[in-house]
Amino acid sequence: MTIIRAEDISRSFRTGNATIDVLKSINLDMERGTFNILMGPSGSGKTTLLNILGALDRPDTGKVFIDDQDITGISERKRNVLRRSKLGFVFQSLALVSNMTAFENIDFALRISKYNGRDRRKRVEECLDFVGLKKRMKHYPGEMSGGEQQRIAIARAVAHKPMLLLADEPTAELDTNTGLRVVKLFKDLVTHDNITVIMCTHDPSMMTVADRIFMLEDGVINDAA
Ligand SMILES: Nc1ncnc2c1ncn2[C@@H]1O[C@H](COP(=O)(O)OP(=O)(O)OP(=O)(O)O)[C@@H](O)[C@H]1O
Ligand SMILES: [Mg+2]
Repeated sequence: MTIIRAEDISRSFRTGNATIDVLKSINLDMERGTFNILMGPSGSGKTTLLNILGALDRPDTGKVFIDDQDITGISERKRNVLRRSKLGFVFQSLALVSNMTAFENIDFALRISKYNGRDRRKRVEECLDFVGLKKRMKHYPGEMSGGEQQRIAIARAVAHKPMLLLADEPTAELDTNTGLRVVKLFKDLVTHDNITVIMCTHDPSMMTVADRIFMLEDGVINDAA
């Protein structure tokens, strides 16, 4: 079953007098419960594409469908609801709130998403456990290593049970082993919870976990299966 589909997506940026065509008529679809990797050289448009797929940005032409809903023309308010309820994001630069503990960071995200599970505390603890950091729940981000903070960010991104998780180079600042551990967590989400993951990376060692690899080059996708 297709969870996300892009039809004929293009996106250009103007800087001064020059226009750069970053995405040129991209078509792709991804199946529910799969691990998808988006690769490509720096500047090839991975982040630009991920932002469009995650309803953070709009394409100049083309359409994006998430869970069969055309999200291209919908209002900003509806996009907000969609992002909070169905999507989860992990960014390269950590975005934990520094004066909140690990527990509070996740709990806060759950409240924003209007999570309607009966026991929010239990869900936060479950997510901390999933990333192996339950014993750190009272720690502040500044008291944790980069890898630990990234794992908390992942716990936060999945706490509300999104159907689609978008991750932009989540392992870029981690050493290889910690990076592989983070990717393994994503893989578990795919296999156990049927979540679809889209991850940008330019690290070839991550390719082994992917169900599908999309290569972005010169504004077009080469589906490397
Ligand atoms: N808001 C913007 N205004 C102007 N140019 C932009 C804007 N956003 C992106 N670009 C340009 O579009 C191109 C693609 O950028 P993007 O961030 O998508 O690349 P990327 O593949 O994610 O690269 P990296 O691997 O370095 O993160 C770059 O040349 C960048 O300068
Ligand atoms: Mg990028």
